[in-house]
Amino acid sequence: MPIISDLIQLIYVSKPFGYDGPTLGAILIDARRCNARDGITGALVCRHDAYLQLLEGPAEKVRATYQRIIRDDRHANVEELVNHAVTERMFGDWAMLHDPETSWVWSREEIEDGVLERASPAEIVAMFAGLSEKARAEG
Ligand SMILES: Cc1cc2nc3c(=O)[nH]c(=O)nc-3n(C[C@H](O)[C@H](O)[C@H](O)COP(=O)(O)O)c2cc1C
Repeated sequence: MPIISDLIQLIYVSKPFGYDGPTLGAILIDARRCNARDGITGALVCRHDAYLQLLEGPAEKVRATYQRIIRDDRHANVEELVNHAVTERMFGDWAMLHDPETSWVWSREEIEDGVLERASPAEIVAMFAGLSEKARAEG
């Protein structure tokens, strides 16, 4: 296993624009294709009122990916919540894990009320850590 010294984790929240099955499917195809090429892994929590995405990988690749994502018109109001160096990956086995609406932890009212923007970076990271444990347990 090569040591990647510049591994970072970036998490953002955004508002979906034109949220439906085919749109989501196309986003995931784009994400997985590019991430496999760029050495990026992560998870995308998807629901009609919010996307919450964790990207992890070499700093330069994650930053370039995030710049492309910000410009994507399939969502808006992209807001960075966490951006820090890490020593290991949380979603090393997934080019982009897709977490569907059903397993989400916050209510629609809480999202509308800005719970994600108010959450601390530690709370957001802990939510993804829980998701990663669940995904590993499910294989
Ligand atoms: C919610 C959302 C998540 C995305 N996740 C990724 C991702 O993880 N990796 C990625 O390369 N592109 C992702 N994309 C797609 C990028 O915005 C972009 O379409 C893709 O990287 C191809 O870029 P290009 O058309 O400039 O080559 C995502 C887009 C959206 C709307």
